[in-house]
Amino acid sequence: MGSIKCIGILTSGGDAPGMNAAVRAVTRAAIYNGLEVKAIYRGYKGLITDEIETFHTQNVSNIIQQGGTILKTARCKEFMTPEGRQLAYETLQKHGIEALVCIGGDGTLTGARIFASEFNFPIVGIPGTIDNDLFGTDNTIGYDTALNTIMEAVDKIRDTATSHERLFFIEVMGRDAGFLALNGAIATGCEAAIIPEIATENDQLGELIKNGFRKSKNSSIVLVAESPLTGGAMALAERVKNEYPQYDVRVTILGHIQRGGSPSAIDRILASRMGAASIDALLEGQRNVMIGIQNDELVYVPFSKAIKNDKPINRELLNTLRILSI
Ligand code: F6P
Repeated sequence: MGSIKCIGILTSGGDAPGMNAAVRAVTRAAIYNGLEVKAIYRGYKGLITDEIETFHTQNVSNIIQQGGTILKTARCKEFMTPEGRQLAYETLQKHGIEALVCIGGDGTLTGARIFASEFNFPIVGIPGTIDNDLFGTDNTIGYDTALNTIMEAVDKIRDTATSHERLFFIEVMGRDAGFLALNGAIATGCEAAIIPEIATENDQLGELIKNGFRKSKNSSIVLVAESPLTGGAMALAERVKNEYPQYDVRVTILGHIQRGGSPSAIDRILASRMGAASIDALLEGQRNVMIGIQNDELVYVPFSKAIKNDKPINRELLNTLRILSI
């Protein structure tokens, strides 16, 4: 593997704040190590449509603070087919790209794992998703910024919830993972978080209703993780409205505001460390691994583990939320 001379870099799936910091780090660390860098636009789609540009250090100047991804991103259906992946492989050959660094979430790493094994192609993944749902890393790039965005939004909603003495259901992202909802709820002093990880175990809303939203409060905020398992904020609000017409209920769905914005210092540092580590990994001969950080230590996590293992939520946090929301 010491013979790699040219790497490709792409961002794929949902954008996440800090992706640009990762692109910068990968590019600069590669050039520092004497490698050529080819930027692939629009994720795996750009491999099929041949949208590739050679990157120099200046191409990644002034982007560490920018949200989104300068490489653009896409969710590419064609790459899910063998024909699409064959075209992608031919593009890589044409440009002399000998290894890939793929930045993204679950879908991105799933695509990387399939492609790497089909073509025996070296790929290192970097976890970039606001969902924080990849196993083997304490945090994914973008999660901290999204959490801060949620915190700012919920703080604002609390002003109006308190003034009107309302019950708010606020839906946050996470694609079937409750990290944003649970930690967002703790950070904003919410009354509860309804998350998919425990939705199958108990009727969280039923319990809330039973205990009373308002023992000592005139307003309440419940964060709801988007997921068919929770039912989403709209459905939960409807249920409360029907059963408890005395509550003045409102719903806010935060949506894509959670994916945008300048990355936090934590995300910039995470992205910089992981980006540089991805080049070390390739030069060491690693392949089919995601870069993770566990207890502040860099680790290599096989794609199969990062994707397949469900990352558990810390149940202690649920208890903390319960205790502090009395
Ligand atoms: O994976 C990131 C994420 O924002 C999820 O939380 C959400 O379910 C999904 O992407 C939304 O995807 P899209 O922007 O394609 O609608």
